[in-house]
Amino acid sequence: MKLMYRLMLSFFTIIVILMVILSISFIKVTNQSMYQDTWRQLRQDADSLVEDSIRYDPVDHSFAGFMTPALKADARLLSHQDVHFAIYGKNQEQLFASNGFTPTITAAKWAKLEKGETVYVKMTTPRLSKQVAATNMPRMTEIIRPYRNKNKLVAVVAIATFVSPIERNMHQIKLNLVVALLFAGLMTLLVSYFFSRSITVRIKRLRELTHQVARGNYDVRLRILGNDEIGDLGRSFNQMTASLQSSHDEIHSQEERRRQFMANAAHEMRTPLTTINGILEGLQYDVIPEEDKQHSIELMQNETKRLIRLVNDNLNYEKIRTNQISMERKLFDAAAVLHNLKEQLGKKARAQGDQLELTVPDGLLVYADYDRFVQIMFNIIQNAIQFTENGVIKISGQQRSHGTQFVVQDNGIGMTPEQLDNIWERYYKADKSRMNTKYGESGLGLAIVHQLVQLHSGKITVTSAPGKGSTFTIFFPNSQTALHPHQSAD
Ligand SMILES: Nc1ncnc2c1ncn2[C@@H]1O[C@H](COP(=O)(O)OP(=O)(O)OP(=O)(O)O)[C@@H](O)[C@H]1O
Ligand SMILES: [Mg+2]
Repeated sequence: MKLMYRLMLSFFTIIVILMVILSISFIKVTNQSMYQDTWRQLRQDADSLVEDSIRYDPVDHSFAGFMTPALKADARLLSHQDVHFAIYGKNQEQLFASNGFTPTITAAKWAKLEKGETVYVKMTTPRLSKQVAATNMPRMTEIIRPYRNKNKLVAVVAIATFVSPIERNMHQIKLNLVVALLFAGLMTLLVSYFFSRSITVRIKRLRELTHQVARGNYDVRLRILGNDEIGDLGRSFNQMTASLQSSHDEIHSQEERRRQFMANAAHEMRTPLTTINGILEGLQYDVIPEEDKQHSIELMQNETKRLIRLVNDNLNYEKIRTNQISMERKLFDAAAVLHNLKEQLGKKARAQGDQLELTVPDGLLVYADYDRFVQIMFNIIQNAIQFTENGVIKISGQQRSHGTQFVVQDNGIGMTPEQLDNIWERYYKADKSRMNTKYGESGLGLAIVHQLVQLHSGKITVTSAPGKGSTFTIFFPNSQTALHPHQSAD
């Protein structure tokens, strides 16, 4: 059975049982008090008729019998009120009977009467005269009352009236009670319906939200109404979804970081691998002059070491998880790095018909992480070559008051302001048709560069015009300034 009907049934049962118990006791009490009233009335009638008709001996004032005319007058009067009586002498002989009223007085009753007790009979069917019996139901209630004189029982009055008025009253009361019971039952049904509904509606809402959570929507919150157990359940539910949401978000962002990290790492590895592959090809086809071979091998060794460092430093799960990037900043000769890069990228530039021009003071120092610096400059110069055909790429480096600045300028295809706004975004490629290897590959390079420059508290800016070319300016603060990154670069 549904919870709602169960609740309704229990409310209904409790109220109905309560009402039935109340009704029964009410009927009993009313019935009893009606009989008590009737008996009190009968007692008064008996007393006054004895008072009216008793005769005393004028000499010794002892009981001398009843005056029949007075009794007859009383009998007439009382029979109008449906009251009938009979009088018995002390030897149980009937002295008077109104309308043939003859009750049965058993020996037990006589014994009580002799002790002076009044006998009450709730329901009896005494003998009555034919006319009276014909007009009424014969059921009567009666009292039998002893009268004493000088401490001796002298007479007994049995007086009775019909129970039908009491029964009629009781019937009316019962009818009223049944109507009240039906009305109360209906009200109980209504109230318990709304009450149960309010509970089940709240449970239903909770169930719906639980289904949503099961389907993976942790954004749901329950509107809490009331401070009862269901309200508490709702509060716990909200806490549960909030913590599910936060752990889900955490898993999601960890997964995103892992994905980003793997993409970055692959991007970083491509640079040294391309260099090594170029040199190996040169060696295979014997196009490297004998005197350069030693240098090429050193270059290759450098790149292999960089690869090893990369793998050691970065392919560490804990670092991916906590999004750490290892950085080891120091002062080193940037001019030497740029000469190396020019050499490494020379072949690629020649393939594009580009000319690489490097203007850098000897021994120009930069305060940076060596590998990251190589990565930044390699990416920027490689982009300049990729997006320039038969042009000139000017690379320069300068010492500034708070750090070192590098400029990479090309006269290639350039970019529109709209493209410029987006180049730092991951996977952004200004022209979606440049999917081949000739023009960039993943659209990750500048996003990584941007992140790395920021890690150095540095600054990267770009100016560009379509068809004219682009200029990238990168600034690395020196060690003092790097400690206070808010200080502006020149
Ligand atoms: N020097 C440049 N001249 C013209 N456009 C450029 C230049 N540098 C970058 N861009 C534009 O910015 C985009 C993003 O560059 P980014 O280096 O991030 O990606 P990519 O070079 O396409 O691919 P990769 O991940 O291999 O570097 C490029 O696709 C290109 O459209
Ligand atoms: Mg690139």
